[in-house]
Amino acid sequence: MEMDGIYTVLQNPSEDVYSTVNQPQGRRAGAQQRDPTLPVSAAGKASSYRQPALVLLILCCLLLAAIISLAVYHFKTNEDPEKYNTLLNQLQDLSSKNHSELKKSNTELFVKSSILDKYCPLKEGSSKERGCCPVKWMQFNGKCYYFSTDTMDWNSSRDNCTSKGGHLVIIESKAEQKFLTYATKAHPGNRYWIGLTDAVTEGTWLWVDGTPLNDKTQYWVSGEPNDNNGKEDCAILPFYADPLHPLNSWNDIECQNNYSRICETIAVIIYQ
Ligand code: BGC
Ligand code: CA
Repeated sequence: MEMDGIYTVLQNPSEDVYSTVNQPQGRRAGAQQRDPTLPVSAAGKASSYRQPALVLLILCCLLLAAIISLAVYHFKTNEDPEKYNTLLNQLQDLSSKNHSELKKSNTELFVKSSILDKYCPLKEGSSKERGCCPVKWMQFNGKCYYFSTDTMDWNSSRDNCTSKGGHLVIIESKAEQKFLTYATKAHPGNRYWIGLTDAVTEGTWLWVDGTPLNDKTQYWVSGEPNDNNGKEDCAILPFYADPLHPLNSWNDIECQNNYSRICETIAVIIYQ
């Protein structure tokens, strides 16, 4: 056959395809209706596969949805670590910056606290009250003391201490005399003017604030004051340290001599 034969068959098909297609669904052979060429049992089997197929289709859809969700989640979580890393780096930067700034502040605070302790130590027995003295002054019992290294006569020494906001030292207790004896040992050989004179009335010793010398609080070296040659009206310490009476160190001497001086002022009290 034979090209002519093939054309003949095509031109005259045994089944009218178009009429079959145009038939309503319910009447289409083998679609909804049982194929009359199939045995009854085979048609029943085809129908029983439909439900599981539907379930399978639904499961496939769910699986697809799950895969899409997982993919979206995957991309999101893949992106997040980057963000977290950046955030973490920023936090670490901030933290190290804060740490170094805190360290700097701590050092500054330590320096300031050392300065505070040096110039404004806590008063004995107190955790809140501090006494402050000027630079180069020593503190004892709420008072500040300046031991000069330069020398001048008694009058100039008195005025110099006043110009510093204080006065030549006035010794009011044994404890204070002890402190001065201890402190002046740091500069052996130095002699210091104290604020005591009898220049107004010979034999009447007065402190620079006009207070008369107390009988119980005086520390003359044995044999002093002797107003040697009738010219000695001002007091110094230490003149001579008697091993038997180490605190007795005062001597009267000529006011025109040049010696160092001990100035005194009150410590400024602060509360913290
Ligand atoms: C005396 C003192 C006196 C001093 C004057 C000493 O020998 O004992 O009383 O003040 O000389 O330089
Ligand atoms: Ca004397």
